[in-house]
Amino acid sequence: MYRDLKKILISKEEIDKRIKDLAAELDRDYQGKRPLMVAILKGSIMFYADLLRAMTIPLELDFMAISSYGNKTKSSGEVRMIKDLDRSIEGRHIIIVEDIVDSGYTLSYLKRMLYSRHPESVKICTLLDKFECREVPLEPDYKGFDIGNEFVVGYGLDYAEKYRNLPEIGILKEEVYENK
Ligand code: PRP
Repeated sequence: MYRDLKKILISKEEIDKRIKDLAAELDRDYQGKRPLMVAILKGSIMFYADLLRAMTIPLELDFMAISSYGNKTKSSGEVRMIKDLDRSIEGRHIIIVEDIVDSGYTLSYLKRMLYSRHPESVKICTLLDKFECREVPLEPDYKGFDIGNEFVVGYGLDYAEKYRNLPEIGILKEEVYENK
């Protein structure tokens, strides 16, 4: 898989260090609130597992699957719900855990949808923020790293379902996804 990468953008050590800081921030902000940590499948799974293990406050888990990309490298703006939460979120503090915010379509749709179920609060925690690519206004509440407009894979992020199991985040060579 490494031969398809132009370079490693963020090492495992850098990811681990940043996650520790984010976990400490969340521990502080959600003390006594027992937040419901919602993973958005599948890209967020590595970040989710590492972030939750680094947090020390009591919390709960749930999962959602939403799709906006298909196998393309650019968001279409279409958002599809594939799997919903298992339980009611009324009165709960929700933290949406994402791998990346790009155009912002997915998260703004999700936020709207979750707020209609009357939670106490909904915040977004993303590992990566491709803020240059935003097409709708959306500001993550917690974020790991700002990145430029490059196609990144690894640590949960894929291209056509590949590269998710790389331990670090790399930039994919253009030739891998061009003319596909
Ligand atoms: C990615 C990512 C976000 C979304 C962000 O998911 O996990 O959910 O795209 O893009 P946006 O800000 O342009 O809406 P993807 O649809 O690739 O699914 P995956 O997590 O299963 O890889």
